[in-house]
Amino acid sequence: MPERKKIVILGATGSIGTQTLDICAQHPDRLEVVGLVANQSADHLKQLAAQYSVPDLALMDERAASEHGLPGGMDAIVQLVTRPDVRCVVVAVAGVIGLAPTLAAIHAGKDIALASKEVLVAAGEVVMPLVQEMGISFTPIDSEHSAIFQCLQGTTPDQVEGIILTASGGPFRGKKREELAHITVDQALNHPTWNMGGKITIDSATLMNKALETIEAMWLFGLTMDQVSVVVHPQSIIHSMVTLKDTSVLGQFGWPDMRIPIQYSLLYPERKANQLRKWSPVETPNLTFEAVDQETFPALGLAKLAVERGGTTCCAFNAANEAAVAHFLAGRTGFLQISELVASTIEEHVPVEPTLENLLQVDAWARTHIEHQLIHGKP
Ligand SMILES: NC(=O)c1ccc[n+]([C@@H]2O[C@H](COP(=O)([O-])OP(=O)(O)OC[C@H]3O[C@@H](n4cnc5c(N)ncnc54)[C@H](OP(=O)(O)O)[C@@H]3O)[C@@H](O)[C@H]2O)c1
Repeated sequence: MPERKKIVILGATGSIGTQTLDICAQHPDRLEVVGLVANQSADHLKQLAAQYSVPDLALMDERAASEHGLPGGMDAIVQLVTRPDVRCVVVAVAGVIGLAPTLAAIHAGKDIALASKEVLVAAGEVVMPLVQEMGISFTPIDSEHSAIFQCLQGTTPDQVEGIILTASGGPFRGKKREELAHITVDQALNHPTWNMGGKITIDSATLMNKALETIEAMWLFGLTMDQVSVVVHPQSIIHSMVTLKDTSVLGQFGWPDMRIPIQYSLLYPERKANQLRKWSPVETPNLTFEAVDQETFPALGLAKLAVERGGTTCCAFNAANEAAVAHFLAGRTGFLQISELVASTIEEHVPVEPTLENLLQVDAWARTHIEHQLIHGKP
């Protein structure tokens, strides 16, 4: 009987964090959560700790931490994820803020289960070589990347032609650009098939989520951008596909439930029975596919451009999007302006070598650049 894997969850109070707790509770013989981290939701964090009997907590926000008598700040989080007994860190914070604890955990030889795609989009050049060097297990939680990871089992890299990421199309599928001019935050937060945190839900509505995922997939699976394509699949039943050189196409099917990829990520390569609802083809007989309307949703083209420009451009792309989404959620900019702000940031950015120091500087520059554009009324 393998020993129980001790896990720390970053972003424990979020959508992925709470679903990870549920999966761990379904496999108490294999998974044990020993630490929970959130930003400032102390009461929610304490309630989860009591519900799931998790001994150690930390908050990123130092003020909230001291108010609630909890360890706080990046140092406390790094201390928790690098503790000798911890085997695996689930990175599920919203945004690139997960980079520093991820790097610390990898340096300490911990396995990573990654939900925070922003970490790889911004800093794949730094993260992936370290993963190789440390020989750790680095498994995706994102449902599309989990699907690809599952389909790749039993294939060799030379057999792979490419991958097809599926996209639900979000709440505005079928609409034209001019119809999106006055979209409200509530409309954009109303996703048709997935129930997720605020930032990723807005990313799904702009298709920026899929754009980030194309870059994430390149890093995870060692592909070029030309090998990564996207198809709209509104039912969200096929979670992504791999195309092979012999023209076979492999796909992974199931209900849109993040607990499936979370479990695969944490128990890989094991497959264990769980309490999740079983999917059957007759329940969803009409699976459909359509091309992405890139005129209305320019995000995929922006990701491609960022990859082509190279250096630190993907980092600028990610930071600009994080900042623009935060401004949209706060009512300071419009829905269509998100991609316009990202596009102008890519345009203005002068790429440099993607060292960790440069990436952190570029991340800060892109956020300031967005502020500046909003203050000066551009775009
Ligand atoms: N939700 C999904 O279905 C899904 C699917 C695939 C991938 N992902 C990816 O998973 C990540 C998390 O998404 P989510 O939907 O779970 O987000 P979410 O529901 O918004 O939760 C975010 C979590 O991150 C914490 N957090 C926020 N800012 C932080 C900071 N500065 N330092 C430390 N912790 C911080 C939050 O704590 P507080 O509660 O204290 O704010 C919360 O626990 C994202 O990168 C997303 O793209 C999500």
